[in-house]
Amino acid sequence: MRTVEVTDALQEYLDGLVPPRDRVLARMEEEAHSENIPIVDPHEGMLLYLLVKIAGAKRILELGTATGYSGIWLLRGTEGGSLTTFEVDHKRADRARANFADAGLGKQALVLEQDAVVGLPKIEQHFDACFIDLLNVFPSEEMTQRAFELCLERLEGGGLLMADNALRQGEVVRPKNQQARNVAHYNELVAKHPRLESVVIPIRDGVSVARVKG
Ligand SMILES: C[S@@+](CC[C@H](N)C(=O)[O-])C[C@H]1O[C@@H](n2cnc3c(N)ncnc32)[C@H](O)[C@@H]1O
Repeated sequence: MRTVEVTDALQEYLDGLVPPRDRVLARMEEEAHSENIPIVDPHEGMLLYLLVKIAGAKRILELGTATGYSGIWLLRGTEGGSLTTFEVDHKRADRARANFADAGLGKQALVLEQDAVVGLPKIEQHFDACFIDLLNVFPSEEMTQRAFELCLERLEGGGLLMADNALRQGEVVRPKNQQARNVAHYNELVAKHPRLESVVIPIRDGVSVARVKG
């Protein structure tokens, strides 16, 4: 059977099943909507939270912080763990720090204000889970592959590798622009890598979820 088509009525139904968000997440959703900040939605936030919690992940790496919305879901899933997250935009990085503090997670979140692909090689630490939210912005397939490899190198057996926008609004089927080619390349790298077992979950714009074997 095919994935069910998400009609407006079905989306409304699904929205009714997402747990209510607290004051901080609700405010951030409103701000993202009014200021056009590209964040995950609560369905995906909940998925990230659950995956991290089920895997027992404590040390999280994120590429693409924006204002910290997905970071809060990820951190809450760790139940006391830590998040290292990269954001090139200084204003967004500052807002993310303020939001993490407002959510009571200020001491657990390290927001690094730099290009993730430049900053990541300087980090020797290993992580239990990584969330890539930059697939839409990498300039080339080579850069996408570099980010994939840098993240994978920092995950051990049982580690989680997750990425947003794995469907690129369906454009991955016949990529006609560089971003769609980047995402399709990422999906192929993940699907064919001997260290990974993976699936693309068609929530929102598609979430790639992979587990490092062992
Ligand atoms: C899709 S948004 C992240 C949304 C966030 N994960 C959430 O759901 O709350 C991507 C963010 O990555 C930032 N960005 C773009 N290129 C980057 C790079 N090379 N390294 C780090 N951050 C980058 C953008 O400024 C943007 O805020």
